[in-house]
Amino acid sequence: MQYPQWIWHNGTIKPWAEATTHVMAHALHYGSSVFEGIRCYDTPGGPAIFRLSDHNKRLYLSAKIHEIDIPYSLDEINAACREVVKANENTTDYLRPVAFRGLGGFGLSADTPTDVAVATWKMGRYLGADVLENGIDACVSSWQRFAPNTIPAGAKAGGNYLSGTLVAREARRLGFGEGIALASTGLLSEGAGENLFLVFDGALHTTPVSAALLNGITRNSIISLARDAGIDVIERDLPREYLYLCDELFMCGTAAEITPIRSVDGRQVGAGKAGPITRQLQSLFFGLFDGSTPDKHGWLETL
Ligand SMILES: Cc1ncc(COP(=O)(O)O)c(C=O)c1O
Repeated sequence: MQYPQWIWHNGTIKPWAEATTHVMAHALHYGSSVFEGIRCYDTPGGPAIFRLSDHNKRLYLSAKIHEIDIPYSLDEINAACREVVKANENTTDYLRPVAFRGLGGFGLSADTPTDVAVATWKMGRYLGADVLENGIDACVSSWQRFAPNTIPAGAKAGGNYLSGTLVAREARRLGFGEGIALASTGLLSEGAGENLFLVFDGALHTTPVSAALLNGITRNSIISLARDAGIDVIERDLPREYLYLCDELFMCGTAAEITPIRSVDGRQVGAGKAGPITRQLQSLFFGLFDGSTPDKHGWLETL
């Protein structure tokens, strides 16, 4: 892996290799961190960070759930994101703000200082080079997502990702492109690190936030783009077998963008390739970055 030159760490831009932390930092042992994943796209108006403020607002919401005090304002974190992209001369496409309990106590309830960093790197296509075009083969994981009132799925917290790691690694080991998890109810939740959309009779169906999922910003963007285009969107609980029965299926997230799913558990979905609604939404979404979709919601935040 090639690392970029600069990173923002506790208030300053420094060389990547100098942004270190102690091995006894609380977060390393207990997963007590909150973070964001944000894309930066090249647009005709220059580099733009997609929904920067919305992502960083969610960082504070995640921190609120876990009582992690972030010693910077939202404006300062937004500025740090811009600064680190600029410092790396716009060679990166992904941003990772993270706030974590640092060194300052070993007990679970220790009041440690909060360390904050904003990294950026070149991610490219998260699930593979040609997946946006050709789609992936997915499987339903043997691992379920956490039950309600155990680990809050609504926080984007480091510890939550032990779940996604199990789901994703199992899928790769079995030869699939990505894994999909059920909630503890046995109903559909989401992908290892992506939300789900199913198409039935021209309408979009997506699982609700009560199904142990992260309320994705890409999910929210797709709901808006679809409604703007006159496509019905229904948030509802869905059983596993609907993955096999729908006309089209895709996953979405900052990293995965809009990735069509061509089969689940060895059963072909729809025509076995990206369907017309998926293509329409991909074109509306990526059109935001080449200017063919007007940015009517003000989602592109320039450097
Ligand atoms: C578990 C999980 N669900 C959904 C998403 C999609 O969220 P977003 O669109 O905000 O990136 C992500 C990615 O961040 C995720 O990790």
